[in-house]
Amino acid sequence: MTIQGKTVSQSQVETFHIVRPNDLNPAGRLFGGTLMSWIDEVAALVARRHAQMNVTTGSVDNLKFLSAVYLEEMLVMKGKVTHVGTCSMEIKVETFVEHINGQRDLVNVAYFTLIGLDDKDKPAPLPKLKLETEEDRIEWEKANKRRELRRKQAQEGFHFY
Ligand SMILES: CC(C)(COP(=O)(O)OP(=O)(O)OC[C@H]1O[C@@H](n2cnc3c(N)ncnc32)[C@H](O)[C@@H]1OP(=O)(O)O)[C@@H](O)C(=O)NCCC(=O)NCCS
Repeated sequence: MTIQGKTVSQSQVETFHIVRPNDLNPAGRLFGGTLMSWIDEVAALVARRHAQMNVTTGSVDNLKFLSAVYLEEMLVMKGKVTHVGTCSMEIKVETFVEHINGQRDLVNVAYFTLIGLDDKDKPAPLPKLKLETEEDRIEWEKANKRRELRRKQAQEGFHFY
């Protein structure tokens, strides 16, 4: 069955974590590697929902740790598709600390590129992304620029992709 197109809201994901003792580094902050694995998981969930097929992470374009996270804080992670090419899609994951009064502070922003896979594990065409809101269109434009920049830098031998 070919899926004609899906909206951003159809695949977006929100997950929660309480920071536990095992998640900390020796300095008493959330270990960055643990946060990265949670982000990767959110990105994969969003991508699978959009693609409705297996997906794999191709690259992490940008991952910014804005502030430290501590024991027993609650993290809210929001992921959404920002751009879809032929077989690859960009997923943005924002991580917030949510305080007891409900206020959310942004602590991390990440952009991942995931690729849809067919049953032979080869890249497969994805459903198009239907842009509904002004925010969707702005995110698309920014993601498209990141994609062009990534390709230009790869051509110049700056990095692999
Ligand atoms: C990602 C992978 C499937 C790409 O296979 P490939 O045959 O090189 O892919 P293609 O050259 O046909 O490119 C297919 C699409 O993916 C994109 N792409 C391929 N590799 C990419 C990468 N590393 N980063 C970002 N985008 C990538 C291409 O730009 C293309 O996008 P488009 O179709 O939207 O224009 C393959 O390199 C792979 O399996 N890598 C390992 C991934 C993995 O195991 N990840 C888990 C982390 S351990």
